[in-house]
Amino acid sequence: MSPSLYAVERSTTDSASGHHLVAILDFGSQYTQLIARRVRELEIYCEFFAHDSTPEELTARSVRAIILSGGPASVLQENAPAPHPGIFQMGLPVLGICYGMQLMGRFLGGCVIPSERREFGPARMEVMGASPLLRDLSPEMEIWMSHGDSIQELPPGFQVLGRTENCPIAAIGDERRKIYGVQFHPEVIHTPRGIELLRNFLLNIAEIQPTWTMRSFVRHTIDEVRVRVGKQRVLCALSGGVDSSVLSVLLHRAVGDQLTCVFVDNGLLREGETRHVAETFRGRYHMDLRQVDASERFLRMLDGVEDPEQKRRIIGGEFIRVFEEEAKKVGVVQFLAQGTLYPDVIESRSALGGPSTTIKSHHNVGGLPEIMGLDLLEPLRNLFKDEVRKVGEEMGMPEEIVWRHPFPGPGLAVRIIGPVDAEKLKILREADARVEEEIRRSGLYREIWQAFAVLLPIKTVGVMGDERTYENVIAIRAVTSQDGMTADWVRLPDRVLARISNRIINEVRGVNRVVYDISTKPPSTIEWE
Ligand code: XMP
Repeated sequence: MSPSLYAVERSTTDSASGHHLVAILDFGSQYTQLIARRVRELEIYCEFFAHDSTPEELTARSVRAIILSGGPASVLQENAPAPHPGIFQMGLPVLGICYGMQLMGRFLGGCVIPSERREFGPARMEVMGASPLLRDLSPEMEIWMSHGDSIQELPPGFQVLGRTENCPIAAIGDERRKIYGVQFHPEVIHTPRGIELLRNFLLNIAEIQPTWTMRSFVRHTIDEVRVRVGKQRVLCALSGGVDSSVLSVLLHRAVGDQLTCVFVDNGLLREGETRHVAETFRGRYHMDLRQVDASERFLRMLDGVEDPEQKRRIIGGEFIRVFEEEAKKVGVVQFLAQGTLYPDVIESRSALGGPSTTIKSHHNVGGLPEIMGLDLLEPLRNLFKDEVRKVGEEMGMPEEIVWRHPFPGPGLAVRIIGPVDAEKLKILREADARVEEEIRRSGLYREIWQAFAVLLPIKTVGVMGDERTYENVIAIRAVTSQDGMTADWVRLPDRVLARISNRIINEVRGVNRVVYDISTKPPSTIEWE
């Protein structure tokens, strides 16, 4: 195939976003999302594409560079996920990572062999020669390896750019065609200077302009929303969480009073949430905010229900009913806004059959809009959570909202093991408020992904004064995480744990024991139900 066959018009930008676009072909590595986040940290816009996207599809989006992700398969396997061979003939710079590099070995005329043993973990790479990919990274790089196969023979035109003790071909490049491959993972933090390698590839080799800032995102999005919405009305479900709060403020900036936000108090929220939402969005932002107290309805529906999935279904279904009832009172509405984020989009796509094996069931794609027959407005659908937070900061939103820990849709109902009732909710809400206060006071709130209390369905014995008590147990969960898919428990300082425990036992009636959850995800999960 001639190199000019799929020539790309260099001067165009991706019309959808107004930024140069990098395509990440997703071969299903657990680190694929991290690649995108690193690229975006460099202020370069990227999106995931199916691993077998055709040159025509990439050209149609004016892609400027291609990254082939890693993946769990072996390129030597039959039916291993493969790219369209034409992508190497497009004249675009390509970087293959791990499996992506082995694909180059396979497709460009080299030879890949299974290694004697899998290499996993840290290694040191000697940088060879003076390639633009590894500019300023010599003489040695700390890298993170995770692979089974390796390239034994280089494809024609390529040179070895780096080697490790176990892997004589750890980085390769064909400078003329601007095609590069690395056996290691530059996107993970264990490759401390990996970001510089990505910068070299994207800014210097592919000559992409770093224009992807949240300031430009806010400006563009406001313009786009105004054009799309015109004089019509928009409805938005506001929960007080980060995503729906940032979404509401962004939409309000775009269309002002044409936006109505509906906040449903399902009785399963954290302490002070309803008041806080009113103060912020009605008080500070002067939005048309409709608050509905539906707590009794939800509690009635949940009475005696033990099964967590049944609780979720009831809460989800009832939310839709309450929201619809309230929407009718608003009058004629054309659009429904949702705080869908990029990971939700990717997950629903991979759930439909990509090579990615990570599938999460709780995402907010779908549901309401189909039922209500409204057009969907999802201005955050290309953003990662950290970008949403930056958008909030960019718009000057308060730190308590922008940095709020995620909170599940079914709320405290999935943190009360077994049936939910008003008394248990009161105990849990009070305990949870103390966890949050003490974590904030310790200065650790922002480093932690989620910290909360769980009410267990058992009573244990205690002593208070001369009396024996038989009361509830509260478990504390605090985890760090990048995206909720994996998580580690936080090594909270003793004094913080001690204060949390003392305050809960002394101040919350009905609790005489506090325990700390020291499980990682996987195999545990973050929530207890
Ligand atoms: P798990 O418990 O699956 O949680 O490790 C991962 C992340 O998802 C949140 N989560 C939910 N969010 N509806 C939601 O909107 C749910 O039913 C739900 N269950 C869990 C959880 O808080 C964590 O951030």
